[in-house]
Amino acid sequence: MTFLEHIPGTNPLPHPAKHPRAKGIGILGLHEGRTLLLALDRIAHARAVAGCDLEESKIASARAAAPELFYTRDYAELLARADVDIVAIYTPDAQHGEHIERAFEAGKDVICTKPLVNSVADGKRILAAARRTGRKLLVGQSTRFFEPFLRQRAAFERGELGKLELADAHYIHRMDWYYAKSPWVARDTDWIFLGLSHPLDLLRWYLGPIREVQALGSRSKLGLEHGVAGMDMYVVNVVSEDGRLGRALGHYGVHELPSARNCIELMLYGDAGTSLAQYHDMRYVHTGAGGTEITEDHLYAGRHYYFGSEVHGMHYGEFANYAEHFARADRGRAARARPRARPGDILPHGSRAAFGARAPVGAPRAPLGRDRARGRLLARARWIRRRA
Ligand SMILES: NC(=O)c1ccc[n+]([C@@H]2O[C@H](COP(=O)([O-])OP(=O)(O)OC[C@H]3O[C@@H](n4cnc5c(N)ncnc54)[C@H](O)[C@@H]3O)[C@@H](O)[C@H]2O)c1
Repeated sequence: MTFLEHIPGTNPLPHPAKHPRAKGIGILGLHEGRTLLLALDRIAHARAVAGCDLEESKIASARAAAPELFYTRDYAELLARADVDIVAIYTPDAQHGEHIERAFEAGKDVICTKPLVNSVADGKRILAAARRTGRKLLVGQSTRFFEPFLRQRAAFERGELGKLELADAHYIHRMDWYYAKSPWVARDTDWIFLGLSHPLDLLRWYLGPIREVQALGSRSKLGLEHGVAGMDMYVVNVVSEDGRLGRALGHYGVHELPSARNCIELMLYGDAGTSLAQYHDMRYVHTGAGGTEITEDHLYAGRHYYFGSEVHGMHYGEFANYAEHFARADRGRAARARPRARPGDILPHGSRAAFGARAPVGAPRAPLGRDRARGRLLARARWIRRRA
């Protein structure tokens, strides 16, 4: 036997058998949406059934990878299909409101990529449509579903940090490549939605309702050169309703980011420990017992699953994880045994009080019987093996 029995990162991707009641997903917008279309092979409770884009070239690229699906340039045709249970929306930010409303009206549940909407009017529009139709929505806040952030959250929920006192998040990325690919980015949205939605969402995830916000914005040289209509640099301080502090930083005209920094990072400062989650190096750093620093580095073992065989690629793993979360949350026994959302509730992942969620954070757990405890341990071991 050699010292290394298995070379990390050489695991094949998981292709689990589909659940008999796996949900059919129709995907609208096949650039970032193509990632989900391919990633759905990684999960058991949903499958891709249809794709839609206005551009023939985007359809051709998706069809080359998944020829068995139904493709169309007409959203109405996708919505009319009985095999589409969930519509997953990856169109430009300013169109999300209309596309969500049409999906709800057609009787579909929705996964919508971040940012959910970029105007208050569209927020009200989808809330009214959700209440009218009783359909459900998951906001695809991908960072929450990335390995280090999942680990950081689980440790936080186990109480390892003690009481959280301060959260510090950023998303920093040189974005000039985006303006040529997607001209709407400079014109029809703002980086506070397109970019800052990641760190702001992380602050909300940990701090809960926000009482006070101080925000400053400005425009970089790169942003000015590309005709950015709004701002592309932001500094935001927040105070939660219970008085805890948070800070979010966004910079989308950065010249370059030193490799020691990751483009998305979340630092949590608790009264009993500190932790750091990083995207996209897939690193999770935390304080162990006695103050020892522990660095978990999942890049090599996890890159197939998360990046699709590139070292830093698209968002396959996060999209697969949130689609699985949404499809499972609405299914059978698990959903019946747990509190359900009321029709019209809009629930980002982490709204644990509802929608097939696990026990609310901090809720006392019922003692497990021996068999159930063993079952849980085995399930956890399988989960770790799948990701190793
Ligand atoms: N981390 C993440 O979750 C993440 C990452 C990148 C982008 N996004 C989000 O994904 C969305 C799309 O971003 P992108 O980079 O793919 O943009 P893009 O401009 O590359 O692609 C948008 C696609 O939507 C298609 N489209 C537009 N209107 C349509 C319509 N009415 N019917 C059918 N197709 C239509 C376009 O032809 C295009 O192919 C944005 O909201 C963005 O914020 C999320």
